[in-house]
Amino acid sequence: MADLRIDTRGLKNFINQETLDSFTEELVKHQHALLDKTGKGNDFLGWITLPDEISDEMLTSIENDARFIARSADIYVVIGIGGSYLGARAVIEALQNNFASLLSNDHRGKPFVVYAGNNISEDYMADLLRILDQRDYALTVISKSGTTTEPAIAFRIIRRHLEEKYGKEEARKRIIAITDQSRGALKRLAMEEGYKTYVVPDDVGGRYSVLTPVGLLPIAVAGFDIRKLIDGAREMKQLVTTAKTLQENPAFHYVAARNALYRAGKPVEVMVNYQPSLNYITEWWKQLFGESEGKQNRGIFPAGVSFTTDLHSMGQYVQEGLRILFETVISVDQPHKNITVPREEDDADGLNFVAGKRLYQVNKEAESGTLLAHIDGGVPNIILSVPQINENILGQLIYFFEFSCALSGYVLDVNPFDQPGVEAYKKNMFALLGKPGFEKQTEELRERLK
Ligand code: PA5
Repeated sequence: MADLRIDTRGLKNFINQETLDSFTEELVKHQHALLDKTGKGNDFLGWITLPDEISDEMLTSIENDARFIARSADIYVVIGIGGSYLGARAVIEALQNNFASLLSNDHRGKPFVVYAGNNISEDYMADLLRILDQRDYALTVISKSGTTTEPAIAFRIIRRHLEEKYGKEEARKRIIAITDQSRGALKRLAMEEGYKTYVVPDDVGGRYSVLTPVGLLPIAVAGFDIRKLIDGAREMKQLVTTAKTLQENPAFHYVAARNALYRAGKPVEVMVNYQPSLNYITEWWKQLFGESEGKQNRGIFPAGVSFTTDLHSMGQYVQEGLRILFETVISVDQPHKNITVPREEDDADGLNFVAGKRLYQVNKEAESGTLLAHIDGGVPNIILSVPQINENILGQLIYFFEFSCALSGYVLDVNPFDQPGVEAYKKNMFALLGKPGFEKQTEELRERLK
């Protein structure tokens, strides 16, 4: 039984129920196309059955590796970019203490996870190596293609550091590679060096891979229960792959709402949270939807804000800027902790009107007040409510967004499983860096940059 609730009352002034319901027939068709593998990109649908098909043996192997890493490292470096790191980071940051980096010193047995290969900043790398000089660490390098430049460069640099720190033999035990079954430079390197490897299945694209070892290993190393995550995904799978109405199927409801808004002149979807720990859920969602839908000059632009923080920055734009936005709010019913605003006798700061209230009640009223203000300002909203944040619910959310994204791509009539546009910057970068085979483009680009 899934816990996610969807509320589209915030669309009332903008979209009528009839318009939403008119998507149902098309969504049933796309649901079938996904399950029967007859739609666009149908060789990349392995993610649909992952929650049912992942074996106990695989989960046990991941848990054993996670325990080994936790025993031997204070810091765990995850090298990867895009879909090869965002899912893991989203789940870890949603679940860990907000100040985990400060706690990890005295928490042997639960390594602090850091990320590399998701940028090419020299200062970032230098700062990371300085930390790695001082602490025990292990690393996992994740690249499905095994050829992506950013993680490949980071791996080359950090692998050298690891070998110098521990010697080649010990370094080898501290490296796990997650990549293609048989292709790519990383696979070759892993075979030559004898690294432990996990496979990214052929039919699962990067941004749909969080429920493979790509996401599961880092999440398990960080100390979280990957079986509960998978259980949650399985519960959501059962619902969104079978239910056939907007009322019963939250993915239908969400996809109908966002596409109706898009057609009504709202091409920007702003994902809103009221918990900073969910910022990377937003980042993962942005990548999932941005890379899946943004092609052929179409697609809803996925943006993100964290309230109430950003009510003091982007809030002004949302309230009164260009009326091209709608919001999707992840609303969490209950926090895990309990803090009450204290009463002051003299009430010098004038805050006794909130004395005795839990912080989350104040946060909830901020949320409700903001929703109404934004509707009044011309920004419709969709609310996705969950009872709390835990592994099971994150598993549900992941599967919900993945299935919704695939359906929505089909509604937009694009292939939600490719990313041809990502190649353009790579070609230019290779040419400018002098990669063999790009000589002609090098000259042209240098000329244009003059
Ligand atoms: O979702 C995707 O397919 C991409 O974002 C990839 O995950 C990203 O480009 C990294 O690719 P790779 O895992 O091949 O290094």
